[in-house]
Formats: sequence, structure tokens, C-alpha cells
Amino acid sequence: MTAPVEHHLRPGTLQLPSLPPLALYVHLPWCLAKCPYCDFNSHEIGSTPLPEQRYLAALQADLESALPLVWGRPVVSVFIGGGTPSLFSSVGIESLISTLRSLLPLEPACEITLEANPGTFERERFRAFARAGVNRLSIGVQSFDDALLKRIGRVHDAAQARAAVHEASETFDRFNIDLMYALPGQTMQQLHADLDQALAFRPPHLSVYHLTIEPNTRFALDPPERPDDDLANDMLDAITDRTQSAGLNRYEVSAFARPGRECVHNLNYWQFGDYLGIGAGAHGKVSFPHRVLRQVRWREPMTYIARALAAEAVSNEHEVARDALAFEFMLNALRLRGGFPTTLFFERTGLPLSSIEPALQRAEARGLIERDAFVVRASAKGFDFLSDLQQLFLPPA
Ligand SMILES: C[S@@+](CC[C@H](N)C(=O)[O-])C[C@H]1O[C@@H](n2cnc3c(N)ncnc32)[C@H](O)[C@@H]1O
Ligand code: SF4
Repeated sequence: MTAPVEHHLRPGTLQLPSLPPLALYVHLPWCLAKCPYCDFNSHEIGSTPLPEQRYLAALQADLESALPLVWGRPVVSVFIGGGTPSLFSSVGIESLISTLRSLLPLEPACEITLEANPGTFERERFRAFARAGVNRLSIGVQSFDDALLKRIGRVHDAAQARAAVHEASETFDRFNIDLMYALPGQTMQQLHADLDQALAFRPPHLSVYHLTIEPNTRFALDPPERPDDDLANDMLDAITDRTQSAGLNRYEVSAFARPGRECVHNLNYWQFGDYLGIGAGAHGKVSFPHRVLRQVRWREPMTYIARALAAEAVSNEHEVARDALAFEFMLNALRLRGGFPTTLFFERTGLPLSSIEPALQRAEARGLIERDAFVVRASAKGFDFLSDLQQLFLPPA
């Protein structure tokens, strides 16, 4: 399914001045149970043992086949996401990271994040992840309230969530807590209680997501009663105020960090950097001097294993059309509170900023952006109505 690298290197009308920073995403697709709101590529393990060895071999084969696309480029960050990566043994994670190190030039300060779920690890395993080279842990807590956790179908309880965050804070200098808000039946008081507990751990990074009902999930079939828009907006205001008072800046729609503790990996997505995505269903974006390529891997884990071992991990790839590039850039970069340097637009898309001048003017006239010669960013209003703002940059149909 994948074209040889010479095909991507052929001349074209686009001319990128340089290649963007490169990150690596590794997808581990299994979970203990499928949460009713989740549309990620995650599969319940059930009673079958995790095919850890075969999956690691598939990841290695996948990466080896992809190497010519990124030959010699240093890697700024690695994100091992899922699914529930912490279901893998620490020996498995160690072997994965040493494979990555042997095949790719990871930068000396490379951020290596692993996603972990409460209740899927013991303290020792956790430390072993750190010894294996993981230097940032992201814990999917969602809430510290037993009743809310039950309502959203989580398999862990609040005590396990607290234990997990406590262990993370003892073991890792850099860690993140994922929370969700506007949960079924959640009150403002419950939100404050969740924030109290999260902030008590003094996390360097917090991600707080509005619960969304995604198609093809159990919640889509049988939607629970949720806070209305007014209450959800008040909740977001409370989240922004409380995190700010605790020294965490809202640097992206859902991300809050102490200065210097922003997630390098996610920042690279939002700044329209490159990423190779390996593992079942993983997405990737890789730039070449004259084009930008998007790839996706086989989604179903057993199919992925078989295809990756046969050097056919990619199920689909396409070149991003010239006018879609500007939209894709804006879709990402406008999510950042600080916006983007005007020079970055040309660096990442190879297009002059003047190519979106009419849309920028429309956005400015509606008070949705602020800009000067150096920076473009969403205004406070634009940040509140982000999808309206992003739509203005859609390519003509
Ligand atoms: C890749 S997911 C999975 C992380 C981990 N497996 C877990 O569930 O704890 C990363 C985060 O996305 C958020 N998330 C997943 N589905 C969501 C939804 N439907 N609405 C809002 N946030 C969601 C959750 O906070 C979750 O921790
Ligand atoms: S544990 Fe995380 S990835 Fe797995 S089903 Fe639940 S939300 Fe999705």
C-alpha cells in the first residue's frame, strides 16, 4: 500500500524551506475493558493473554519498513499511547524503547511519554518503566469521584486513581493527569472536588477534556444525562481560573502546564510538526521537500500484526492537497493560546501567509483573531468559538 520513498521525493509544486521536527507515536491497542464513551482504537483483552511478543515484533518490522521515509532525522519526542500501554510488562516496554533507540536517532533530551491507567500497575512496575527510559507519565484519571467513575464505566476507583497519581509524582519529574468534565450528573461542587484532588498533587501538566459523545460508542446508543452548555461553560471557567491560580497556564484548548512543562509531543502536533505513527491504527504525517504525506496503519490488532510482519503495515496513505495544507495548519495552530509565529506558516506548509489573507481578514473583522507582523492567534472570543474560527480557513469546495 505504501509507495517507495523515491516517489515521495520526486519534484512537485510545493517547496518546504526545511523539514519540521519529527516525533514518534507508538500505539498499543488493548484495554482491560472498553469505556462507553471511547472511540479510540482500543480493544478489550478479555480472557486471551496479550500477544506482547508478537506485537513488539510487529512494531519493530513496521518501524524498519518506515525508516527510509525519515532517514537520519532526529526524533524530538516519543509518545507510547493507547489503549492502555501500562498493560504491557516493563520488560516489554524496555525492549520497545531499546528497539526505538537502536533504529532512530532520539535526541538526548527526547521526551518519552507512556500512558498509564490507574489499577493496571504496581509500584515496582512503575519504577521499572522509568528505568526503561520513560521520562514522562500520563495517567488517565478522568475523575476522583467513585460515583462519577462508575457512571462513565471506568474499571478503577478513586482510591486507585489517587494511588496511581501519588506513585507517578514520586517516580516522575514530568507527569500528566487526564481529567474529563461535564460528566453525567456532575455538579459544580463535584468538579471543584476533582480539581482540589488533582491540584493537591502539584502536577506539572493537566489535560482536561469536555466529555464528548462520539458516534459508534455505547454512550451514543444510550446517551446519559449531562450538564447543559451553560453549566459546562461555567465548569470550563472554573477549570481555567483554578489551574491558573495553581501556576498552570492554559496553553492549548485542553492542556494546562507550568512554564516549561508543556508536552513536547503534543506541541509538535499543534505546531504542525511531523510524526511517524507506528502500531495498530496509528496515523502519521511526514514531510518531504515537495509534499506532505499522511499515512494510517491497519486498525484491527491481529490484522496489523500479520501485515506489519509482512512489511505491509500501512493500510492507506495520501498526499495532502495544497489548499488543504493551509486549513490543516490552522486547525492545529489556532488551538494554541499563544497562536503561531507568522514565519511558521511558510515553514510548515511552503505557502506564503498571503495565501490565507482573505480568511484572516474575515476572522479579524469578526473579532476572532489578533495579529501583528510576528504572531497570529485566536482572540479570547475566537478561542471560545474555535470551530467557527477554524471553519473560515476551509479550502473552497
Ligand atoms: C487516548 S485516551 C486514553 C488514555 C487511557 N487509556 C485512559 O483511558 O485512561 C486519552 C484521554 O482522552 C480522553 N478521552 C477519551 N475519550 C473521550 C471522550 N469521548 N470525550 C472526552 N475526552 C475523552 C480521556 O481523558 C483519556 O484519558
Ligand atoms: S481505558 Fe482509555 S483507551 Fe481504553 S477504552 Fe477506556 S478510554 Fe478508551
